[in-house]
Amino acid sequence: MTSFRTLDDVDVKGKRVLLRVDLNVPMEGGRVTDATRIERILPTINELADKGAKVILLSHYGRPKGQRVEEDSLRHVLPTLEHYLKRKVAFADDCVGAPAEAVIAAMKDGDVALLENTRYHKGEEKNDPAFIDEVAKLGDIFVHDAFSAAHRAHATTEGIAKKLPAIAGRTMQAELEALESALTSPARPVMAVVGGAKVSTKLELLGNLVAKVDYLVIGGGMANTFLAAQGKAVGKSLCEHDLAPTALEILEKAKAANCTVVLPVDATVAQKFEAHAPSHIVSVDHVGADDMILDVGPKSVAHVESLLAKCKTLVWNGPCGAFELPPFDEGTNAVAQTAARLTVEGKLLSVAGGGDTVAALNQAHAGQEFSYVSTAGGAFLEWLEGKTLPGVAALKA
Ligand code: 3PG
Ligand code: MG
Repeated sequence: MTSFRTLDDVDVKGKRVLLRVDLNVPMEGGRVTDATRIERILPTINELADKGAKVILLSHYGRPKGQRVEEDSLRHVLPTLEHYLKRKVAFADDCVGAPAEAVIAAMKDGDVALLENTRYHKGEEKNDPAFIDEVAKLGDIFVHDAFSAAHRAHATTEGIAKKLPAIAGRTMQAELEALESALTSPARPVMAVVGGAKVSTKLELLGNLVAKVDYLVIGGGMANTFLAAQGKAVGKSLCEHDLAPTALEILEKAKAANCTVVLPVDATVAQKFEAHAPSHIVSVDHVGADDMILDVGPKSVAHVESLLAKCKTLVWNGPCGAFELPPFDEGTNAVAQTAARLTVEGKLLSVAGGGDTVAALNQAHAGQEFSYVSTAGGAFLEWLEGKTLPGVAALKA
């Protein structure tokens, strides 16, 4: 049940469609290093163009804060976009005013154009009505396909949706459908795997998840804070000792909500934070004073895998260990591969996203098999926190 309009609900032929995408892709030395966000928006662009719309792409890049920072120009992304799209894309070196108007006036039905970085204007982040009007007059319909920017109440992610007929693009639609089936109305039992370095950045997320999931698996550096709060020695591990009371509160809240919190029972420890540092496995009751916990151990992995086999839904955010340093990626890899296998076997709906998660799953060669991997960072986290995303709410209004 979707409460937003999709491309099935509008006639776009001959219309100027302002399509908000997220071209905020990683670049190094002027080249796009990960084109996933570009690949994800191709279906929407192609569908609109094939239906005879004039497709006008809007996006931010970086955080230029209202200045024309050359490094943040979307011109740098244009060749990669054209390469994947296999279509010519016109470029306007401003997203409003004469340059944008001229490029749009020259478009034929089915053409695609890209307008320069919306964040070159202060009005974008300020969601300024005058700027919204300037952008809105360039189009007839607004299509939002940037879930990963939907946590921002900016002019081209939120404000404009109130000015023009607003529709979810195919990527936004897929994302919302995946997220709704993972957490809003999931098949149970539901497991959440939450990892990453710090509890402090994920307090709201954990607080929201304990009320919604049946199993909450805590991994990564943040598990150490929970172990320490329970009185265990964590040696030299990353640990936010001052958050012990908060960790205990989360455990209490989980208990009251009938959510089983799964903490590591064993760990891979080393004395250096380096790839291939000499390491061994210990019970979490026997972490030495000089040890650093860098990954969950095999017993912990087996326990999570046995629970996962009973679950119908998985939501994943954050790695279980220091996955960027082999062999401390083993726990993450094993759990990810098991989730991937269960998904392929049709036993599990698996949704992952946020920060390092995509990189960790790809490294585990498991990302392709997940039901849905979000390219969103902050937006995915805010959604896990139970927050209303302004860019999504504007589509539902
Ligand atoms: C992202 O990369 O997470 C999105 O494009 C949003 O970017 P922002 O954090 O600069 O708003
Ligand atoms: Mg961000």
